[in-house]
Amino acid sequence: MALPPNFLDELRARTPLAPLIGRRVRLARNGRQWKGCCPFHNEKTPSFYVYDDHYHCFGCGQHGDAIGFTMQTEGLAFREAVERLAGEAGLEVPRESPRQVAKEARARDLHDVLQVACEAMQRRLRAPEGRAALDYLRGRGLTEETIARFGLGWSGAGRGALAADLKPLGIEPRQLAEAGLTKPAEGREGAYNDFFYNRVMFPIRDRRGRIVSFGGRILGEGQPKYLNGPETDVFSKRRTLYGLDMAREAVFRGKARLVVAEGYMDVIALHQAGFEGAVAPLGTALTAEQMEEVWRITPEPVLCLDGDAAGRRAAARTSEMVLPLIGTERTLHFATLPQGQDPDDLIAKKGAPAFEAVLASAKPLSVAIYDLMAEGRPLGTPEGRAAFRNDLAAAAGRIPDKSLASEYRSALLNRFFESSRPPRPPRPPFTPGARKGAPFRPPPRLPPRAAPEAGNTRLQQARCLLAITLAHPWLLNEVEEAFALLELPHGPPSALQAALLAWHAGRALTDVSEGAAASLDSADLVDHLNATGLEEARAWVMGAPGLPREASPDAQPAETLDGWWHFFGFLRGEGALVEDLDAAGRDLVAANDAAAQSRVIRLSQALSALRRGETGLEAELESGAESASP
Ligand code: UTP
Ligand code: MN
Repeated sequence: MALPPNFLDELRARTPLAPLIGRRVRLARNGRQWKGCCPFHNEKTPSFYVYDDHYHCFGCGQHGDAIGFTMQTEGLAFREAVERLAGEAGLEVPRESPRQVAKEARARDLHDVLQVACEAMQRRLRAPEGRAALDYLRGRGLTEETIARFGLGWSGAGRGALAADLKPLGIEPRQLAEAGLTKPAEGREGAYNDFFYNRVMFPIRDRRGRIVSFGGRILGEGQPKYLNGPETDVFSKRRTLYGLDMAREAVFRGKARLVVAEGYMDVIALHQAGFEGAVAPLGTALTAEQMEEVWRITPEPVLCLDGDAAGRRAAARTSEMVLPLIGTERTLHFATLPQGQDPDDLIAKKGAPAFEAVLASAKPLSVAIYDLMAEGRPLGTPEGRAAFRNDLAAAAGRIPDKSLASEYRSALLNRFFESSRPPRPPRPPFTPGARKGAPFRPPPRLPPRAAPEAGNTRLQQARCLLAITLAHPWLLNEVEEAFALLELPHGPPSALQAALLAWHAGRALTDVSEGAAASLDSADLVDHLNATGLEEARAWVMGAPGLPREASPDAQPAETLDGWWHFFGFLRGEGALVEDLDAAGRDLVAANDAAAQSRVIRLSQALSALRRGETGLEAELESGAESASP
C-alpha cells in the first residue's frame, strides 16, 4: 500500500512543522529553528529542536518529520497519520490506480536491478580483474570501510559482462536498458551495449537510499573522466544529489552541516574526514530542484566551490539562481576553497581542520553575492558605478519576500556606498620594543573595522587570542604594546582587552616599585576579572569549543608565544602588519638584537599565513566556529 513519494512530499510541504508540534509543545524561537521541552522524555531545560522539515531532541535522540511526530504522539499507524494530516492540509490521499500500481512495481524492479548490478560490480572490484581499480581507490586514500560504505565497484570490461552477471538472477537485457546500464547497439536490432566499461563505479542513491543510477570514473587520465548514467524512470540528474541519503541522515542526527561540494570524490573524501553532510550535483551547475532537495534537510546549507575562476563563475550563477527561491527561513552560505584545490585535495594535503576552517569562514549569501557581482567590474567611472548599483538593487528585487528584499537592498547598497568612501587614515604602526613595565595606553578608539562576513571568523580569532592571554598572563610582558593596538570586536572581547591591559599596567607598577620581576599569575588575574564584573566574559572565552592548544595552562612558553603572534597577525590585518613589519625591520637594522629579530620573523610568518588566505583557525577549530557569539 505504498503511497507515491511525491504525494508524501507534498503533504510534508503543506504541513509546517512548528505549528503542528506547537499544539503539544511550547516552542520558542531559537534563531532559524524552534526550541522547547521534549515531549518524548521528561526534561526541564529544552533540548528539543524543530526545524523546517524535521524535529530532533538532543536529549533523547528522538527525531522525525510531521508524519513521524503524529504517529508517535497520537499512536497512529503510518497510513492513519498520513490520512489525519492530509485531512488537515486539505489533500486527498490518492487511491492506488492499477496504472499507479504497475508503475511503482516497475520502479521497484528498476531499483532491484540497480541494486543487484551494484552488488555484481562490488564483487568484480574484489576479483582479480578489479585489482587495478581497487589499488586506484586505495591510492586515493580511501579506506576499506569507505569503499564498502559507498558501494564502490568495478564495471568490468564491457562486452556484456554485466548482463552475464545478472542473467542467472532472471534479469532481462531490456531491464538493464531501462535501468540505464546498457544502451541499444546501433544497427543491431534488439542488441545492447554496456553503458559503462573499464570504469570505477559509484552507485548514486536517492534521498531514501535506493540506487537510481551510477557514475563511472576512468582509471587515471582519459576522457570523459566521469560518465553519469542516462535519464531513466528512476533517475533525473537535475533532481539528484550524490550523497544525499547519507547527508540527510547525518544532518538529521545533528552530526553534520550540509555541504554542497563539486564531485563524487569530494563527497567521499569529506565523509571519510567526518563531514558526513557532504553532497554534490552530478557534473552540472546546481539546479533549483537540487536546492529544494537540500532545503528540505536544512535551512542553511553551505556551498563549497573551488577558489578558481570557474568556481567563482559557478558561485555567481548559483547565487543568481537562488535569489527567487530564498526566504527568511531558507538561504545559502558560500565557502571558498584555496585556489586550485577541491575538498578532496585540501583534506589529503592539510587534513580535516583545514576544511573546518573553510566552513568556518563561509559567507552568507548577502555578503557573497556582493563580492561576486563586484568582481571584474569597472568601478572607476560614474557609468560603471551606476550600472553596478542598479544591478545590486535589481538582485535584491528578485527576492520574493518583501521584507527580505528590502533588507538585501539596504545591505548591498550600504556596502556599495561604504566602498566609495575615502580610505581611513592609517592606524599607528606598532613600534617594536615593548618592554616590561611600559606605561599603559588605552586601545585606540577607532570605528569597528571588521567586515560583516569576517565577523564570525574574527570573533573566533579574538577568542583564541584572549584565551591564550588569559591562560598565560605573563605574555603581556612581551606583547603588551602590540596587544593594546588591536581593535577587538565590541562586547566581551574589547572589554577583556581593556581589563587585561589595565590589570597588567597595575601589576607592572607594583612590581617595579617592589623591585621584583613582574610575576603575573592567572589566579590573581581571575580575581581581578571577577571583581570588575568580567566573570561572564571570561567564561565566554574559555568555554569556546576548539580553543587552540596554546590556551591550555600546560603549553610551553615558546609555543604559547608563537600561538599568540599567530592570532595577533590575523586580527591586526594585512595593512597594519605590513607597517609593523617595516618598523620591526628598521628596528632590527638599528638594534640588531634577538628580540627584534624574532619580531621580524613572527610578523612575516603571520603576514604570509594571512596572505595565503588562512583564517588562523585551521589547526585549532574542531567544530562550529559559527556558534561563536558574544
Ligand atoms: P572534476 O573534474 O572537478 O573532478 O569534476 P573531481 O571531482 O575532482 O574528480 P577526481 O578528483 O579527478 O576524481 C567534478 C564533477 O563533475 C562531474 C563529476 O560528477 C565530477 O565528480 N564530471 C567531471 C563529469 O560528469 N564528467 C567529466 O568528464 C568530469
Ligand atoms: Mn578531485
